[in-house]
Amino acid sequence: MTRKIWVFDTTLRDGEQVPGAKLNLYEKLEVAQQLKKLQVDIIEAGFPASSTGDFNAVKEIAKKVGNTDDIIITALARAVKSDIDSVFNSIKYAEKPLIHMVLGTSDIHVEKKFGKSKSQILDIGVEAVKYAKTLLPDVQYSTEDASRSDFEYLWSTIEAVVKAGATIINVPDTVGYAEPEEFGHLIYKLNDRLKNLNDKVLLSVHCHNDLGMATANTLAAIKNGADKVECTINGIGERAGNAALEEVVMSMNTRSAIYQAYTNVNTKEIMNTSRLVSSLMGLDVQVNKAITGDNAFAHSSGIHQDGLLKSRDAYEIISPTEVGLEDMELVLTARSGRHAVRNALEKLGFNHLTETQFEGIFTAFLELADAKKEVYNHDLYVIVENYFSKHDSTNQDLTNYSEHFYELIDLQVISNPIFPSASVKMKKGNIILKSSSVGSGPIDALYSAISEICDLDIKLIEYNINSVSRGKEALGKVKIQVEYKGEKYTAKATDTDIMKASALAYINAINSIVVEHLLPVK
Ligand code: KIV
Ligand code: ZN
Repeated sequence: MTRKIWVFDTTLRDGEQVPGAKLNLYEKLEVAQQLKKLQVDIIEAGFPASSTGDFNAVKEIAKKVGNTDDIIITALARAVKSDIDSVFNSIKYAEKPLIHMVLGTSDIHVEKKFGKSKSQILDIGVEAVKYAKTLLPDVQYSTEDASRSDFEYLWSTIEAVVKAGATIINVPDTVGYAEPEEFGHLIYKLNDRLKNLNDKVLLSVHCHNDLGMATANTLAAIKNGADKVECTINGIGERAGNAALEEVVMSMNTRSAIYQAYTNVNTKEIMNTSRLVSSLMGLDVQVNKAITGDNAFAHSSGIHQDGLLKSRDAYEIISPTEVGLEDMELVLTARSGRHAVRNALEKLGFNHLTETQFEGIFTAFLELADAKKEVYNHDLYVIVENYFSKHDSTNQDLTNYSEHFYELIDLQVISNPIFPSASVKMKKGNIILKSSSVGSGPIDALYSAISEICDLDIKLIEYNINSVSRGKEALGKVKIQVEYKGEKYTAKATDTDIMKASALAYINAINSIVVEHLLPVK
C-alpha cells in the first residue's frame, strides 16, 4: 500500500539561516508563491520573533500565499509565550495556520544549553504546547537534537506533549550526526509507540547534512514509518544544510517500489524553484548536485552519449522533463564521440553526409571543441559550411549559414558609478556592426549594446560568473540564461577577460535563438 508523505519546506526559515542569504519581504513572498506552485504541503515562512522584518514577511505570506486551504503556513517559535504569540499573530491570517515550536531533548541541550533538569524542560514543553493550543488547534513540537537524546527521555517528552495536544511530532537530527540505519531504527521505535498512543499524530523528521547523510537519513525515516519530511530547496540551511527536497522527492518517485510512498509535489516545478531560490539568495548550486545541479542531466563523455543515443535508460534514471528541464542535454565537447556529433548534425538536417564528409567535419569539430570547450549548434553550421566551401563548393544544398550568425570582434566597457557604458563591434557574415549603450551597470550596458545590434527582444534571466582556475591567469566562466518568445536558452563562455566571456556567452545564446527561429528552412 502506498501512503502519502507530507512535505514541509523550510527554505524560508532554516534555509534563510545561511549567512548572507537573507531575503526581503518581496523576495520571501516570491519564493513562497513558487513553493505553492511546487505543491509542498507546509511552508515554514520564518522565525517571526527574530525581527520585525521577519514577522511582517511571515504575515504577508500567511495573507497572500496561505489564502487557500491547500497549503499550511507555519513559523518557528521557541517554547516561550512571547515567541508563540509572534508566530500566532503572524500566521493567523492563513486559512490553515500551524504553530511550530522547538525545545531540546538531548542531555547537551537540557543540561549545558539550558542549565535545567530534564523534568523542568519537559514541563516547559508541555506548558508551551498547552498555551499554543489555546490559540490554534494545530501545533508541531520539535524535539531538538533528538538523534543524540536518551531514547526514554525523548519518548516521555513526546508522550507528554502529545497528551498536551501536539498534533505533529518532529524528530530533528539537528547536528547531522545520525546514520541511516540507526536513524531508521529510532523512527521505527518512536512511530510504533506514537501510533499506539494516538494514531492521528504525524511523525516528522528534519535532517541536517553535516556528514552528507541528510537525504539518506530522511529516506530511512520514510521507510520506517515517518509521515512527514522537512526539507529545503537545493538542500540549503544551517551549516552543511538540510535534506534537499528535490532529492527526497525524486528518490521516492524513482524508487517508488522501495518506499511505497508518494508526495503531492509537482516535480515539473523543481528546476524553476531551484533557480529562483539560488538567484534570490545568491547561493550557487554545486554543478554536480543531484537533481538541480547544472550537470545533473548533462552527458558529456563519448561512451555515455553513444549509449544514451542507443537507449536512454542506459545512463538515464530520471527524464529531465520530469523536473521541468527541456530534455536530455548532450553537451558537445572534445570528449563527445562520433555518434553524438553525427546525431547533432542529423538533428540540424545534415542527414546525407558521406563517410569522408563526416570525418572531415568531425576533425574540424574536435579542433573547435579543444579551443572553445563547448560546441553549439551554430558552431556546427559554420563547421559544415566551412567544410563544404573548402572541399565541395558546388554543393547546392547548402545555404550560407554563417551570414546569419553573430561574432564578436571587439568590445570596450567602462565601469563607473555615474555612467557605465559599453561599445561593441561585431560581425554578421561580412557585415560589420557597431553599437554603444549605457546601462545600470557594465554588464547591463554591454548586453544592451549587443541587443541593439541583434534587434531581438531578449530578456536576461540569469547571469553567473565563476573562476575556473587559479592565480593571475584565472579564467572567468560566465553562464547565462535568456528568454526569447517564452523559450529559455542557456549559454556559457570562458575567457581570462570576464567582460569578453560575458559578451561571448550572450552571443552564444543569441546564435542559439537564430538557429531555432531565424535560419531559413533547409
Ligand atoms: O535543526 C533543527 O533542530 C531545527 C529545528 C528548529 C527543527 O531546525
Ligand atoms: Zn534545522
